[in-house]
Amino acid sequence: SGDVVTTSRIDPPAEIPLPMRRNGLDPAPELLSLHKDDGVVRIDGPFRAPTWLVTRYADVRAVLADTARFSNAAPLPGFAEANAEQSVAGNLLLSDPPDHHRLRRMLSGQFTLRRMRALAPRVEQIVEEHLDVMAQKGPPADLIADFALPVPSLVICELLGVPWDERDEFQRRSAEQMDLSRPEHERVAALQELHRYLSGLVVRARRSPADDLLGMLVREHGDELTDPELAGMALLLLVAGHETTANMIGLGTLALLRHPDQLAVVRDDPAATERAVEELLRWLSVVHTGVQRTATADVELAGVTIRAGDAVLVALPAANRDPGFIDHPDALDIGRGEAGHLAFGHGVHHCLGAPLARLELCAAFPALLRRFPSLALAVPDSEVEFRVFNSVYGAAALPVSWEIR
Ligand code: HEM
Repeated sequence: SGDVVTTSRIDPPAEIPLPMRRNGLDPAPELLSLHKDDGVVRIDGPFRAPTWLVTRYADVRAVLADTARFSNAAPLPGFAEANAEQSVAGNLLLSDPPDHHRLRRMLSGQFTLRRMRALAPRVEQIVEEHLDVMAQKGPPADLIADFALPVPSLVICELLGVPWDERDEFQRRSAEQMDLSRPEHERVAALQELHRYLSGLVVRARRSPADDLLGMLVREHGDELTDPELAGMALLLLVAGHETTANMIGLGTLALLRHPDQLAVVRDDPAATERAVEELLRWLSVVHTGVQRTATADVELAGVTIRAGDAVLVALPAANRDPGFIDHPDALDIGRGEAGHLAFGHGVHHCLGAPLARLELCAAFPALLRRFPSLALAVPDSEVEFRVFNSVYGAAALPVSWEIR
């Protein structure tokens, strides 16, 4: 039918901006139940435009593939980042083709499999160094603060050329910027401060380009890019490059601790790592809000009419748990080897850093589990706190312990 669904079938509690997940690792049941209906519903907010939530695998793919009718660049009223004007330049996620292509092509050479193979020994070293420190300090540890966050954060800093001793400058603001429970003006302010910080690094890189990504951009594309574009690109890479992977390491470890048989396979069988990482990416889908587009034309989708100017929000966690995509979607099965999950998105904006994220995850899980074969939660499972308000889902902290051999 062509009926527009005008009433919200989801009733999100006022304090939770979006009903993706409330707690634990599974998407909210009412989100998954939408698969049985049309899969597209109108929800309240978070934008000041009519907002449609898309939950089915096929529809999510269709939206993400259709850059002509679902735009990243057309502004969404009420979207903090779109309102922080200087953060738009250079931000791939806020651009459409052909401008998107112009920006992305300058970066794509940095994330090839060949580049990743060259980077692998350093990533493995960073992983081992953090495990060394954890082992020296002894149990308990906070897996997030001691391992899951610093490993990808240091990797992206080295890659970009962001001084690691200045990490306080960006880690806190990056977290503030993603915290949807904060008022919009605070999130915009955090973003602006981050942008100012990166602009300073751009000035330094223009003066003396080093052997890192920022230096490469200055040397090879310095005359095609303005300073705000360079800072915007670096900002996106810095933020996208550590929060996402960090939360995958944290939640992935928690998921494995809850599935000890599968944990043992990841620990003991190196041949199982890649498949296991893909299944964890699908099952956890840590990017749980924030994948949004603006309709540029009236579009019929799954029986509803989306009007030009409406906001469209795709629910990656729901799409990846769609029985139309995969059998027994709610079961974690690290052996299933199913391709095509949407945890990295789809289409031209498909995660640029996916090869790097895969490299980091494939290094992190086996190394952690081999170093601490008796790894266990140091608190009752029910006490783990989740960051429900963040656009990237994760655990706030993950106290773990192990037996000293
Ligand atoms: C885009 C997820 C790691 C850089 C995306 C998108 C998703 C995603 C879903 C698409 C968003 C959209 O279409 O609106 C993830 C996950 C990661 C991860 C789950 C870790 C497990 C990384 C890393 C980097 C990175 C390590 C940095 C090197 C980017 C960039 C884009 C992007 C630059 C924008 C691409 C474009 O617009 O063309 N990511 N990401 N990501 N990601 Fe990642």
